[in-house]
Amino acid sequence: MLETPHILRTEHLDRQFKSGHEVIKVLNDINIVIPKGKLTMLKGRSGSGKTTLMNLLGALDRPTGGHVYFDGQDITRISDHKRDEIRRLRMGFVFQSVALIATMNAFENVEFALRVAGFESKKRRERSEEVLELVGLEKRMKHRTQELSGGEQQRVAIARAIAHHPTVVFADEPTAELDTSMGLQVVSLFQSLAENHGQTVVMTTHDPNMMEVADLVYSLDNGDENHD
Ligand SMILES: Nc1ncnc2c1ncn2[C@@H]1O[C@H](COP(=O)(O)OP(=O)(O)OP(=O)(O)O)[C@@H](O)[C@H]1O
Ligand SMILES: [Mg+2]
Repeated sequence: MLETPHILRTEHLDRQFKSGHEVIKVLNDINIVIPKGKLTMLKGRSGSGKTTLMNLLGALDRPTGGHVYFDGQDITRISDHKRDEIRRLRMGFVFQSVALIATMNAFENVEFALRVAGFESKKRRERSEEVLELVGLEKRMKHRTQELSGGEQQRVAIARAIAHHPTVVFADEPTAELDTSMGLQVVSLFQSLAENHGQTVVMTTHDPNMMEVADLVYSLDNGDENHD
């Protein structure tokens, strides 16, 4: 069989939340396709459902209706245990606020994540150096969190998220706490990971400056998606 050109697909995806007697329909019949090895962005105003959609794509939440297919498998219909496994082995996550371990340096932060992922010691050291080089921090490996700029910290977080060779990296507003120039450095890094290393990246943003480097942009508004 030919390799599918996409890695994630949603079908009639709905997500509603109950608040008292009210039902808030956040996502309404979302049908999107996330291509492999590309940088896809989800944009929309605050409250439009970007995080909600990303949490469904990343198996962190279950929909009210519809399906999410990851690598051909419907991940909305499998056990929590299987979902945990897919998330741990095949997905990487980067968040708005960088959550590095403050008492560890850049290298140790990445190395620790690989220890949790079950990599053996030699492989951990090699891969930690490799990904920190990949994000341009070969000279900062021994620096602790507080000795790094916000953009550098976010790049350590990206190195950590890609270290275990995930199929997809999800980044929820990874540039929101950075100034425009550091934000652009971070999205350029994602673009280069996609273009030069075939890494699939899905990120949310509401900053139009960041969208220019995307391969594909989905715009969420009024619960529907639009393809730009
Ligand atoms: N667990 C929840 N319970 C109730 N309502 C929720 C829940 N999670 C999200 N919502 C609501 O769903 C809507 C979409 O939220 P979401 O966080 O996905 O927006 P967003 O596009 O990521 O916004 P932002 O740009 O501010 O991060 C909001 O109105 C929010 O209040
Ligand atoms: Mg959000």
